[in-house]
Amino acid sequence: MRVYVPRDAAARALGADAVAAAFEAAGHAVIRNGSRGMIWLEPLVEIEENGVRRAWGPVAAGDVPAILAGRAESLGRVEDIPFFGRQQRLTFARCGLIDPLDLADYEAHGGLAGLRRARALGPEGILAEVKASGLRGRGGAGFPTGIKWETVARAPGDRKYIVCNADEGDSGTFADRMLMEGDPFTLIEGMAIAGLAVGATKGFVYIRSEYPDAIAVMTRAVEIARKNKILGGGVHASHAFDIEIRVGAGAYVCGEETSLLNSLEGKRGVVRAKPPLPALEGFLGRPTVVNNVISLATVPVILEKGADHYASFGLGRSRGTMPVQIAGNVARGGLFETAFGMPLGELVHDIAGGTASGRPVKAVQVGGPLGAWFAPAKFDTPFAYEEFDGQGGLIGHAGVVVADDTVDMALMARFAMEFCAVESCGKCTPCRIGAVRGVETIDRIRAGDAAAVPLLVDLCETMKHGSLCALGGFTPYPVMSALRQFPEEFGLLREAAE
Ligand code: NAI
Ligand code: SF4
Repeated sequence: MRVYVPRDAAARALGADAVAAAFEAAGHAVIRNGSRGMIWLEPLVEIEENGVRRAWGPVAAGDVPAILAGRAESLGRVEDIPFFGRQQRLTFARCGLIDPLDLADYEAHGGLAGLRRARALGPEGILAEVKASGLRGRGGAGFPTGIKWETVARAPGDRKYIVCNADEGDSGTFADRMLMEGDPFTLIEGMAIAGLAVGATKGFVYIRSEYPDAIAVMTRAVEIARKNKILGGGVHASHAFDIEIRVGAGAYVCGEETSLLNSLEGKRGVVRAKPPLPALEGFLGRPTVVNNVISLATVPVILEKGADHYASFGLGRSRGTMPVQIAGNVARGGLFETAFGMPLGELVHDIAGGTASGRPVKAVQVGGPLGAWFAPAKFDTPFAYEEFDGQGGLIGHAGVVVADDTVDMALMARFAMEFCAVESCGKCTPCRIGAVRGVETIDRIRAGDAAAVPLLVDLCETMKHGSLCALGGFTPYPVMSALRQFPEEFGLLREAAE
């Protein structure tokens, strides 16, 4: 009998450690796996007996005797729970299934097959494969990963670097964390493949300090990978690649690639002007691949199963799958990996079950604190890059935060400006000053001064077009989407807003 109790931070926050301790006290060894991504069922315990793995959840420590005595009703197999069964798991295929720090378990579930194929293909073959897969940056911007890698591979430089952006700062997002805690070798494998493709010998994983569990798991996984010659030499006769874990210091803007690089170099986390692109002059002025955790962690499955397999999922130019993170006031929150193209409303209602409060959904914010609000009238929008762009939004890092009809949308707009004011790096005026003026202007509107609305619109235009990076440039998205779709809450008649 094998007992699985997640070590994932969300499961631990909900009492997983006490549940694991209760199984151990009853004489059962416990495997601390990652989360299967169904947060409303955490702590989700799985017990494997006679080749069948059954689940219980949410489990409290006091439930353990009844589970062991066969008196507690099981949820059955995780794969048969609709939220899980409806997913197309490629990047997260192993997350929650395996012991995250057991390399043999990782290999037994397809791990390292991608790296082996990458070694056989060589740099040009890897670049061709990643380009053909259609993989785009999963951090939010959606830039084609293969083209970014090719730019670095072709750039002159005595040294090149792979930097993994694990500074997952968007509210309502947790895919990076869940992957690092549940399947860290996949990220390491993806980075090793990237190193091979572009000729880099050193990689960094920049993890936000708010993720102590992910830092601990990744640190241990790197040690294991080194010991087993996956890192630090030996993986390829002509190529040694090593990884260092670095911890951020709590600034949202350090998720922006150039301020992340500054922080990595020991400087203040201020945004750098682009050009030069990090692909040409990145870490210490050398050609650098900066990719999000999910982009890098998706590469092994692309190499393992082939570009065509990956590209066979998706919609239009959005190829493959996206781990959508559903949070906020929602009945079934969690990570749902699906091929691009599922309508937003299906995700919110069918998959996530609407609000936790049972009240009507008023709007959902997609893409973090800088993402646009989508009212139900736009719920037929397919979850894909161009389709969201066409509706004045962005999928970003695929966080979906649900709000019910009690939410004050003018207050949400104010929060966006306030967030920008607090997190601004201060380098450019539209963001540094604009966000503060934005808070004041929304306060005037909320106090009944409708004449301040055109000022807010003007300010949003200035921030959108005049800001140096996405923080100032995207803050207008939540503000303007709230204003356009819920003008009454800003004291306006609907016709005036349209
Ligand atoms: P961007 O569009 O400037 O760049 C995207 C990436 O492509 C960058 O790595 C850039 O260096 C690279 N790139 C662009 N042109 C290139 C070329 N010709 N050759 C090689 N590489 C090239 O977007 P940015 O500012 O890096 O990211 C903005 C996005 O970040 C937003 O869409 C937002 O959704 C997302 N975001 C994500 C957060 C998270 O927690 N994951 C937090 C906040 C924002
Ligand atoms: Fe800094 Fe804001 Fe300008 Fe970005 S937009 S460079 S965060 S001041």
